[in-house]
Amino acid sequence: MIEKWSYSDSVESREIVSLEDKYGHFIDGSFVSPKSKKYFDSISPSTEELLSQVSFGGEADVDNAVSSAREGFKTWQKVKPVERSKYLFKIARLIQERSREFAVLESMDGGKPIKESRDVDLPQVSANFFYFAGWADKLDISWGTDKLKPYGVAGQIIPWNFPLLMLAWKVAPALATGNSVVLKPAETTPLTALLFAEICAEAGLPDGVFNLVTGNGETGAFIVNHEDIDKIAFTGSTGVGKQIQSTLAGTGKGLTLELGGKAANIVYEDASIDQAVEGVVNGIFFNQGHVCCAGSRLLIQESIENEFIEKLERRMQQLRVGNPLDKNTDIGAINSKQQLNKITELVESGINDGGSIYQTECELPGNGFWFKPTLFTNVQPAYRIAREEIFGPVLTTITFRTPEEAVEIANNTEYGLSAGIWSEKGSKVLWTADNLDAGVIWSNTFNKFDPSSPFGGYKESGFGREGGRHGLLSYLKEEK
Ligand code: NAI
Ligand code: MG
Repeated sequence: MIEKWSYSDSVESREIVSLEDKYGHFIDGSFVSPKSKKYFDSISPSTEELLSQVSFGGEADVDNAVSSAREGFKTWQKVKPVERSKYLFKIARLIQERSREFAVLESMDGGKPIKESRDVDLPQVSANFFYFAGWADKLDISWGTDKLKPYGVAGQIIPWNFPLLMLAWKVAPALATGNSVVLKPAETTPLTALLFAEICAEAGLPDGVFNLVTGNGETGAFIVNHEDIDKIAFTGSTGVGKQIQSTLAGTGKGLTLELGGKAANIVYEDASIDQAVEGVVNGIFFNQGHVCCAGSRLLIQESIENEFIEKLERRMQQLRVGNPLDKNTDIGAINSKQQLNKITELVESGINDGGSIYQTECELPGNGFWFKPTLFTNVQPAYRIAREEIFGPVLTTITFRTPEEAVEIANNTEYGLSAGIWSEKGSKVLWTADNLDAGVIWSNTFNKFDPSSPFGGYKESGFGREGGRHGLLSYLKEEK
């Protein structure tokens, strides 16, 4: 075993972030106190300290936001596409200017390492606004028809794993296509969305075009059930997604769902092993494994199992777990106590089922929510850890002998969001990709995102695409 390098702390300053004690909802162009009169805490999952209090969105708050968005939609319709585009470019630039502030706040509120919020989330956020800004005045040209129209008011409900990036994936295409928005961030990570609302005001976006209501699942349900919303876009758990789908059935409203995953990361014996080890580590430990497209099932060809697992364990030992604001940190805090409990419970089931567990020898901080990078071997496909989305830094390994068997195991899941294939042979990669039921497939890489590339799943991973030209269609309907 290589000895661990010693590092000095290199902690990003929090001074750039200034937080209010309390935040209202952002409705009709300004922050307003909640009609519910209720507030709830947003804490830092790495220290458990209170960061700020945000408004709880009750039915009357959602109603207010929807009325504002209805008016906002009328205003936005009168704004020429080329002008809409300018607002989006302005928002993109303002995000870039305040990128460090956003990144620090994202890491404080959600626990992800600063090197990810700084180098992945924030660049992707502004890239999405730039990308969709460019589409706003080219929609007719693209489809050769002016029969496609915006839905109207889009209700958007987003999760806590990529708070600002999921906002960008939803808000940028919605506004580019001429919809207005009521957005609800997740209850554990509302703060960067509130800062984004400030940016909209700064950009001079007309009142009512972007509205933000903070709250929990109850608030989300008020949005889903609201009569005057024309389209719902949801990213989150499959259970809630199913509930939303049944609520909207028969209403004629638009719906896109981006739900969970249990992606196979398939490593063939002819793969470049060191490169594959890096890719497998990135696939499951990026963002503490709180990633819907995480490569959470390692499918490894039997002939290289021992060599690969040895190298993987050695690499895992090098992962630094701890303060999200430290620039050396690879793995930050688990997003919430609730999520930590879920991970712990599933890992215990894996041990009880008979899996062999390997965890790194790191020291975990005293406060906050943490989980050691974990690897399971000797896993049978029927175990819960091989079937259920853990959404944490936990990798399960299953072996296979032939490409046919790899594909069969990979597809033996209720999900179908993503997959990875590691092989030096192009024909084998293409054959495998052709036979996998997954929306996004990476070859000899993993977790690569680009605003121009559509993202979304099959089966219980949901439907509809975000990103690219396909992502625009999620916000347009055919005029009758
Ligand atoms: P969740 O699905 O409850 O939360 C996601 C969002 O939906 C949040 O904004 C939440 O407030 C809202 N929500 C909750 N109940 C709702 C309802 N009835 N109607 C409308 N909106 C509602 O997910 P949760 O409980 O935070 O995480 C549980 C599991 O879900 C995770 O362990 C993970 O497996 C999965 N998950 C998947 C995500 C993905 O990116 N696909 C993101 C977050 C969670
Ligand atoms: Mg928080």
